Amino acid sequence: MIAARIVIAGALLATGWAVYAKPVAKPASPSPQDLVLARQAGMAMSASTMNLLRGASTNGAPLKSLAFPAGSLAKWAAAAPALFADSTKGVPSRAMPAVWTDKAGFAAKAKAFADSTKALADAAKADDKAAFDAALASTAASCKGCHDSYQVPPGPPPKAS
Ligand code: HEC
Repeated sequence: MIAARIVIAGALLATGWAVYAKPVAKPASPSPQDLVLARQAGMAMSASTMNLLRGASTNGAPLKSLAFPAGSLAKWAAAAPALFADSTKGVPSRAMPAVWTDKAGFAAKAKAFADSTKALADAAKADDKAAFDAALASTAASCKGCHDSYQVPPGPPPKAS
């Protein structure tokens, strides 16, 4: 009985030591690859958010219930440009080199995105349907406006053989 207790205590101690000795994950600064993954994730989620907002608006959802998703899009629009840092230039992605050779042009597209998503969030809060639909259209145009010049279009779908 005592022996068993000692074994259990030993096992617990060993576990405790193992947990203690495990190197603590250092909060490292994000690598260029991390930044690319983060911006691709944000872009993908913004496409889902746009779909949600379009569908909800068409179905007559109360605009105030759309203030949160519209506000998240505005937050994303404000945060996205920083994820196109110079350090990510060489990482394979669908960002065109023009993102870095024409920084002013890219910044102008990012600003159009930020302005229209802010208008979208404001219109949802104000329960203003006309302003909301106009801002939804200008937001969609701002996505396309940037992609036309700065995003490598998705490749053709794989051919059925
Ligand atoms: C200021 C420029 C800009 C704006 C505005 C912009 N995008 Fe993008 N988007 C890009 C670039 C550049 C890429 C390629 C990024 C990469 O591969 O790292 C991209 C990639 C994407 C992708 C592919 C993500 C993936 O899975 O790799 C989607 C989807 C997307 N954007 C949707 C949107 C939608 C929807 C909006 C508007 C609500 C939008 N984007 C606004 C520049 C922009």
